[in-house]
Amino acid sequence: MPGLTIGDTVPNLELDSTHGRIRIHDFVGDSYVILFSHPADFTPVCTTEMASMAQYAAEFEKRGVKLLGISCDDAASHKEWIKDIEAYKPGTKLTYPILADPDRDAIKQLNMVDPDEKDAEGVNLPSRTLHIVGPDKKVKLSFLYPACTGRNMDEVLRAVDSLLVAAKHKVATPANWKPGECVVISPGVSDEEAKKMFPQGFQTADLPSKKGYLRFTKV
Ligand code: BEZ
Repeated sequence: MPGLTIGDTVPNLELDSTHGRIRIHDFVGDSYVILFSHPADFTPVCTTEMASMAQYAAEFEKRGVKLLGISCDDAASHKEWIKDIEAYKPGTKLTYPILADPDRDAIKQLNMVDPDEKDAEGVNLPSRTLHIVGPDKKVKLSFLYPACTGRNMDEVLRAVDSLLVAAKHKVATPANWKPGECVVISPGVSDEEAKKMFPQGFQTADLPSKKGYLRFTKV
Protein backbone atom coordinates (compact mmCIF):
# COMPACT_ATOMS: atom_id res chain seq x y z
CA MET A 1 0.00 0.00 0.00
CA PRO A 2 1.49 3.37 -0.90
CA GLY A 3 2.26 5.65 2.04
CA LEU A 4 0.66 8.96 2.92
CA THR A 5 1.10 11.38 0.04
CA ILE A 6 -0.30 14.57 -1.51
CA GLY A 7 -4.10 14.61 -1.40
CA ASP A 8 -4.39 12.01 1.38
CA THR A 9 -6.03 12.79 4.70
CA VAL A 10 -3.47 12.77 7.49
CA PRO A 11 -4.33 10.05 10.06
CA ASN A 12 -6.09 11.45 13.10
CA LEU A 13 -3.57 10.06 15.60
CA GLU A 14 -3.62 10.99 19.27
CA LEU A 15 -0.11 11.21 20.71
CA ASP A 16 1.79 12.55 23.70
CA SER A 17 3.73 15.73 23.10
CA THR A 18 5.69 18.38 24.92
CA HIS A 19 2.33 20.21 25.19
CA GLY A 20 0.32 17.21 26.47
CA ARG A 21 -1.94 14.92 24.42
CA ILE A 22 -2.53 16.07 20.86
CA ARG A 23 -5.08 14.72 18.40
CA ILE A 24 -3.76 15.72 15.00
CA HIS A 25 -7.05 16.80 13.37
CA ASP A 26 -7.98 18.91 16.41
CA PHE A 27 -4.55 20.52 16.31
CA VAL A 28 -4.96 21.35 12.60
CA GLY A 29 -8.40 22.89 13.17
CA ASP A 30 -8.92 25.53 10.47
CA SER A 31 -5.21 26.18 9.87
CA TYR A 32 -2.37 24.96 7.71
CA VAL A 33 0.10 22.87 9.73
CA ILE A 34 3.71 21.95 9.08
CA LEU A 35 4.21 18.45 10.49
CA PHE A 36 7.92 17.61 10.40
CA SER A 37 9.83 14.57 11.59
CA HIS A 38 13.31 14.13 13.03
CA PRO A 39 15.30 10.91 13.32
CA ALA A 40 15.94 11.24 17.07
CA ASP A 41 16.43 13.61 20.01
CA PHE A 42 19.95 14.77 20.88
CA THR A 43 21.28 14.38 17.34
CA PRO A 44 23.26 17.11 15.57
CA VAL A 45 21.34 17.92 12.37
CA CYS A 46 17.97 17.62 14.16
CA THR A 47 19.11 20.09 16.81
CA THR A 48 19.99 22.69 14.16
CA GLU A 49 16.67 22.10 12.34
CA MET A 50 14.59 22.42 15.52
CA ALA A 51 16.37 25.67 16.43
CA SER A 52 15.93 27.00 12.91
CA MET A 53 12.20 26.19 12.93
CA ALA A 54 11.88 27.99 16.26
CA GLN A 55 13.57 31.05 14.71
CA TYR A 56 11.10 30.99 11.78
CA ALA A 57 8.06 30.39 14.00
CA ALA A 58 6.98 34.05 13.97
CA GLU A 59 6.99 34.08 10.14
CA PHE A 60 4.77 30.99 10.03
CA GLU A 61 2.47 32.41 12.69
CA LYS A 62 2.06 35.64 10.64
CA ARG A 63 0.70 33.43 7.86
CA GLY A 64 -1.60 31.52 10.23
CA VAL A 65 0.48 28.35 9.91
CA LYS A 66 1.07 26.11 12.95
CA LEU A 67 4.20 24.00 13.56
CA LEU A 68 4.16 20.43 14.88
CA GLY A 69 7.40 18.45 15.26
CA ILE A 70 7.69 14.71 15.80
CA SER A 71 10.68 12.71 17.01
CA CYS A 72 10.93 9.07 18.08
CA ASP A 73 11.56 9.53 21.77
CA ASP A 74 9.18 10.25 24.63
CA ALA A 75 7.96 13.69 25.67
CA ALA A 76 10.25 13.78 28.76
CA SER A 77 13.27 13.30 26.48
CA HIS A 78 11.98 16.00 24.08
CA LYS A 79 11.70 18.45 27.00
CA GLU A 80 15.33 17.81 27.99
CA TRP A 81 16.41 18.15 24.36
CA ILE A 82 14.62 21.53 24.04
CA LYS A 83 17.04 22.89 26.66
CA ASP A 84 19.94 22.03 24.32
CA ILE A 85 18.14 23.45 21.28
CA GLU A 86 17.50 26.77 23.02
CA ALA A 87 21.07 26.92 24.35
CA TYR A 88 22.44 26.27 20.87
CA LYS A 89 20.71 29.45 19.61
CA PRO A 90 20.61 31.75 22.65
CA GLY A 91 17.50 33.92 22.72
CA THR A 92 15.47 31.32 20.80
CA LYS A 93 12.33 29.90 22.43
CA LEU A 94 10.91 26.68 21.06
CA THR A 95 7.18 27.24 21.47
CA TYR A 96 5.71 24.64 19.10
CA PRO A 97 4.83 21.12 20.32
CA ILE A 98 6.96 18.07 19.55
CA LEU A 99 5.01 14.81 19.29
CA ALA A 100 6.39 11.71 20.98
CA ASP A 101 6.57 8.45 19.07
CA PRO A 102 8.75 6.13 21.15
CA ASP A 103 7.12 3.01 19.63
CA ARG A 104 7.64 4.34 16.07
CA ASP A 105 4.12 3.50 15.10
CA ALA A 106 3.06 7.03 14.18
CA ILE A 107 5.99 7.53 11.78
CA LYS A 108 4.82 4.47 9.83
CA GLN A 109 1.27 5.83 9.54
CA LEU A 110 2.61 9.25 8.56
CA ASN A 111 4.95 7.77 5.91
CA MET A 112 8.02 9.16 7.67
CA VAL A 113 10.22 6.05 7.91
CA ASP A 114 13.77 6.09 6.54
CA PRO A 115 14.50 2.52 5.36
CA ASP A 116 18.27 3.11 5.54
CA GLU A 117 18.54 4.80 8.93
CA LYS A 118 18.48 2.46 11.95
CA ASP A 119 19.20 2.94 15.65
CA ALA A 120 21.63 0.83 17.72
CA GLU A 121 18.97 -1.93 18.01
CA GLY A 122 18.48 -2.01 14.25
CA VAL A 123 15.03 -0.37 14.37
CA ASN A 124 14.19 2.06 11.56
CA LEU A 125 14.35 5.76 12.36
CA PRO A 126 12.23 8.48 10.77
CA SER A 127 13.43 10.33 7.71
CA ARG A 128 13.31 14.13 7.60
CA THR A 129 9.78 14.22 6.23
CA LEU A 130 7.75 17.42 6.25
CA HIS A 131 4.07 17.41 5.37
CA ILE A 132 2.19 20.67 4.91
CA VAL A 133 -1.37 19.79 5.92
CA GLY A 134 -4.29 22.01 4.90
CA PRO A 135 -7.37 22.97 6.96
CA ASP A 136 -9.17 20.11 5.18
CA LYS A 137 -6.63 17.76 6.93
CA LYS A 138 -5.15 16.73 3.57
CA VAL A 139 -1.47 16.69 2.69
CA LYS A 140 -0.82 19.60 0.32
CA LEU A 141 2.95 19.21 -0.08
CA SER A 142 5.68 16.91 1.26
CA PHE A 143 9.45 17.16 1.56
CA LEU A 144 11.35 13.89 1.91
CA TYR A 145 14.98 14.28 2.97
CA PRO A 146 17.37 11.64 4.27
CA ALA A 147 18.90 11.94 7.75
CA CYS A 148 22.16 13.35 6.32
CA THR A 149 20.53 16.48 4.82
CA GLY A 150 19.10 19.23 7.00
CA ARG A 151 16.14 21.13 5.54
CA ASN A 152 16.19 24.73 4.34
CA MET A 153 13.59 26.72 6.29
CA ASP A 154 13.61 29.51 3.68
CA GLU A 155 12.37 26.90 1.22
CA VAL A 156 9.71 25.67 3.68
CA LEU A 157 8.48 29.26 4.04
CA ARG A 158 8.59 29.80 0.27
CA ALA A 159 6.57 26.60 -0.26
CA VAL A 160 3.99 27.78 2.30
CA ASP A 161 3.73 31.15 0.53
CA SER A 162 3.27 29.38 -2.79
CA LEU A 163 0.50 27.12 -1.43
CA LEU A 164 -1.30 30.07 0.17
CA VAL A 165 -1.14 32.25 -2.95
CA ALA A 166 -2.17 29.33 -5.19
CA ALA A 167 -5.16 28.51 -2.97
CA LYS A 168 -6.28 32.15 -2.75
CA HIS A 169 -5.94 33.19 -6.41
CA LYS A 170 -6.21 29.90 -8.35
CA VAL A 171 -2.73 30.40 -9.81
CA ALA A 172 0.56 28.49 -9.72
CA THR A 173 4.05 29.72 -8.89
CA PRO A 174 6.99 29.31 -11.28
CA ALA A 175 10.49 28.04 -10.53
CA ASN A 176 12.29 29.93 -7.76
CA TRP A 177 9.24 32.18 -7.24
CA LYS A 178 9.27 34.51 -4.27
CA PRO A 179 6.35 36.50 -2.81
CA GLY A 180 5.72 39.66 -4.84
CA GLU A 181 6.93 38.14 -8.12
CA CYS A 182 4.70 37.20 -11.05
CA VAL A 183 2.66 34.01 -10.81
CA VAL A 184 1.45 31.86 -13.69
CA ILE A 185 -2.14 31.23 -14.73
CA SER A 186 -3.14 27.57 -14.51
CA PRO A 187 -3.49 25.71 -17.84
CA GLY A 188 -7.15 24.89 -17.10
CA VAL A 189 -8.09 28.60 -17.24
CA SER A 190 -8.94 29.87 -20.76
CA ASP A 191 -7.78 33.32 -21.92
CA GLU A 192 -11.42 34.52 -21.72
CA GLU A 193 -11.72 33.32 -18.11
CA ALA A 194 -8.28 34.77 -17.30
CA LYS A 195 -9.39 38.23 -18.50
CA LYS A 196 -12.26 38.11 -15.99
CA MET A 197 -10.23 36.54 -13.18
CA PHE A 198 -7.25 38.86 -13.57
CA PRO A 199 -8.55 42.34 -14.53
CA GLN A 200 -5.03 43.64 -13.88
CA GLY A 201 -4.09 41.79 -17.11
CA PHE A 202 -1.57 39.10 -17.97
CA GLN A 203 1.36 38.61 -20.34
CA THR A 204 1.66 35.54 -22.52
CA ALA A 205 5.23 34.41 -23.28
CA ASP A 206 5.90 34.26 -27.02
CA LEU A 207 7.25 30.73 -27.47
CA PRO A 208 7.99 28.80 -30.69
CA SER A 209 4.98 26.48 -30.22
CA LYS A 210 2.60 29.50 -30.12
CA LYS A 211 0.44 27.48 -27.72
CA GLY A 212 0.09 30.46 -25.35
CA TYR A 213 0.28 28.33 -22.21
CA LEU A 214 2.83 30.37 -20.25
CA ARG A 215 0.88 33.36 -18.92
CA PHE A 216 2.21 35.60 -16.16
CA THR A 217 0.22 37.91 -13.93
CA LYS A 218 0.61 39.74 -10.62
CA VAL A 219 -1.72 39.04 -7.69
C1 BEZ B 1 21.29 14.10 12.92
O1 BEZ B 1 20.28 14.68 13.29
O2 BEZ B 1 22.38 14.65 12.92
C2 BEZ B 1 21.24 12.67 12.45
C3 BEZ B 1 20.31 11.79 12.96
C4 BEZ B 1 20.30 10.47 12.53
C5 BEZ B 1 21.22 10.07 11.58
C6 BEZ B 1 22.14 10.98 11.06
C7 BEZ B 1 22.15 12.28 11.50
